[in-house]
Amino acid sequence: MSTTSSPMPSGSTSPSKDPLRLIDVDFVRFYVGNAKQAAYFYAQAFGFEVEQICDLTTGDRESANYLLTQGNIRFLLTTGLSQNHPAQQEVAMYGDGIKDVAFTVDDSAAAYEQALRNGAESAYEPVETTDERGTVVMSGIKTFGRVIHSFVSRTDQYGLEHIKNRNAFMPKFRPIEDLAINEYNRQNPTGLFYVDHCVGNVELGKMNHWVQWYEDVLGFKLFKHFDDKDISTEYSALMSKVMDSGRELIKIPINEPAAGKRKSQIEEYLDWHHDTPGIQHLALLTKNELDTVGQLRRRGVDFLEIPDTYYDIVWDRVGEIRENVGEVKDLKILVDRDDKGYLLQIFTKPLQDRPTLFFEIICRRGSESFGKGNFKALFESLELEQERRGNL
Ligand code: FE2
Repeated sequence: MSTTSSPMPSGSTSPSKDPLRLIDVDFVRFYVGNAKQAAYFYAQAFGFEVEQICDLTTGDRESANYLLTQGNIRFLLTTGLSQNHPAQQEVAMYGDGIKDVAFTVDDSAAAYEQALRNGAESAYEPVETTDERGTVVMSGIKTFGRVIHSFVSRTDQYGLEHIKNRNAFMPKFRPIEDLAINEYNRQNPTGLFYVDHCVGNVELGKMNHWVQWYEDVLGFKLFKHFDDKDISTEYSALMSKVMDSGRELIKIPINEPAAGKRKSQIEEYLDWHHDTPGIQHLALLTKNELDTVGQLRRRGVDFLEIPDTYYDIVWDRVGEIRENVGEVKDLKILVDRDDKGYLLQIFTKPLQDRPTLFFEIICRRGSESFGKGNFKALFESLELEQERRGNL
């Protein structure tokens, strides 16, 4: 199969459309030390299908890439094959973590140019890759710290609807056949549907800067505001503002540390992330929290511990829910309510050895918020963990 890659000529804007209309989260790219092994971890622990691969065997001489899918979630796990590859250099600084939250757009080059006009800094210029199946164009802009947003536009067999039906993801990708864990996951689904939100940790004093950036560059709107009175314990605190892409695509809360007596979780993250902002957690949505969390616990996923006392008071705060409350307590799921409904949520421990990236598993029953009432409970249990690691 022949593949061509080339820089794109500029100026392919279609005047009738907003070039920054974001159609979907195209993929979330992780830079990892060993994509082959990480693929098994996310497949075994979280039920992802290891669907496609792009590596030496498919003609990629630079990197190995595994496409993991579940519902409308697409993870790309990327490892560089030489010390000069950016993925290897970043893994040396940050450990495994998220590099790119990529958006599908109509025209990657037009989106990129508009973002630059809106004040974004380039991460990389548009690159077009074509083979007989179609064309994929990618470009990228820098956001907070080490994170970028790629713009991906797709034609023919690489169109979004086709890749959702398991067509090749991009040129040089091929399907992975006959993997036992994939068959096990089809029989034992964990029920994750899409990325509900994606949280960035930024430096002290920089939250408003990045809030403004998401407004100016990508046209996001401020969704909710929690100040440090909302999210604090005796020792540590954070401030958070939630940016909303609109069209129910994704929300991006931005956290910065707030003054506390001891080290906040945001500072701990930055300490172990080369003093560089990055993505703290991805919240993955399920329609059945109990089934999903039960399945993940059976698979060995480690969740944050919640003090038993949490359940002595939670029902007064939250009221009636349709789930079995005994099971909610047994599975150590957190519950919160706002004026629109309630939500169930739970947080994993860090997904790698450094105390950096983790996942949240969230189920919304009308609630559109983020579990504000649970922040105190969450903080207290996070601090217990920090204390065990000697980082408080
Ligand atoms: Fe969250």
